[in-house]
Parts: sequence; C-alpha cells; structure tokens
Amino acid sequence: MSAKTSGAKVKQISNLATAELLELEHLEKKVFGEAALNRWTLPIIARYGNLFLLTIDDQTAGVASFMSKQRQAFLVGFWVKAEFRGQGMGEFFLGECLEALVKKNTSTVEVTVSVENKPAHSLYKKTGFKLVEKISDFYGPGETRLLLQLNLLK
Ligand SMILES: CC(C)(COP(=O)(O)OP(=O)(O)OC[C@H]1O[C@@H](n2cnc3c(N)ncnc32)[C@H](O)[C@@H]1OP(=O)(O)O)[C@@H](O)C(=O)NCCC(=O)NCCS
Repeated sequence: MSAKTSGAKVKQISNLATAELLELEHLEKKVFGEAALNRWTLPIIARYGNLFLLTIDDQTAGVASFMSKQRQAFLVGFWVKAEFRGQGMGEFFLGECLEALVKKNTSTVEVTVSVENKPAHSLYKKTGFKLVEKISDFYGPGETRLLLQLNLLK
C-alpha cells in the first residue's frame, strides 16, 4: 500500500447486513443508474460470486463484483466513489481483488467496458487486460462494449 492509499482496506463480503445492502444499492445506483446492481442481485453476487468492498477510514469507498464459472471470473461491476478517484484507489482495489481471486485458483478475468469509458479502459489496460473482441449491442441496441481479458496464470 502506498502513502496515497493509506487508510484503504479491501474485504470480501459473503453476507450483507440490511443497512449495508441498502447503502450499496444506493451507491451502485448513483454510479451506474439503471445498470446498477441492487438489493435483489447484490446478495446473490455476495453469496455465489465474489463481492469485495473498498473502505477508506472505515467508510464505503468502492465495490467490485465478480461472477465465476469454474476458473473464469467476470467483473460485473467495479467503481470507486467519485471523491476518491484519481488517487490510485482503483488500481489498489483492483489489485487486491485480483490477488484474492488468484488465491481461489481463478485463471482468467473478463470485463466489458464501453469505448467511451477512458478511465476504466486505461485502468484495465494498465493492469494487464487485453482486448479480446468488440461486441456490438452487447447490452442492447447501441450498447457496444469492448471485451477485455486478463490471464492470471503466470
Ligand atoms: C474506473 C475507476 C474505478 C478508476 O478509479 P480511480 O480510483 O480513479 O483509478 P486510479 O486513480 O487508481 O487510476 C489508475 C489508472 O486508471 C486510469 N485512470 C483513472 N482515472 C482516469 C481518467 N480520468 N482518465 C484516464 N485514465 C484514468 C489511469 O490509467 C490510471 O493510472 P495513472 O494514474 O498511472 O495514469 C473510476 O473512475 C470509477 O469508479 N468510474 C465509474 C465506474 C466505472 O466506470 N467503472 C468501470 C465499469 S467497466
């Protein structure tokens, strides 16, 4: 952890208490709008996928949610609270999540990102993700996404 990310912690959550669930639903909606995870999907990801929480000085500062199939993981959602962006938190948080997935024997991680989402695209590229495919209408009409993949096997 660098000086910039001091006070930041990452933990995995398997069960969400009600207050935590409602807080995450609210924050997800602020970031992703209608594409957000919600009270119906967050507990499923927590229980059957991998849900990681970034806290800064014990305050919720980001969420990473992964679905998994055998040794493949898919990054469903990843965000850092707006006021903490541009300080290395995203890179730190993603790195911690990937380390935890390596320990669970995950071999690849995939994510889709919109062509316009430069911050996310740069972060994934910096982390080692490679472009696999550009998929038209992935999330419906006009919602083209880049499919990126990271190989965790060294
Ligand atoms: C994408 C996101 C998680 C990045 O978090 P962050 O804490 O700002 O990222 P960091 O400060 O750790 O930056 C790490 C790298 O990301 C990239 N990056 C971050 N912000 C960027 C920006 N505004 N423009 C271009 N690249 C950027 C850079 O490569 C940066 O490395 P550098 O500082 O050496 O240039 C954050 O912008 C976010 O939550 N966005 C909204 C949700 C979202 O779009 N999630 C991704 C869905 S696929």
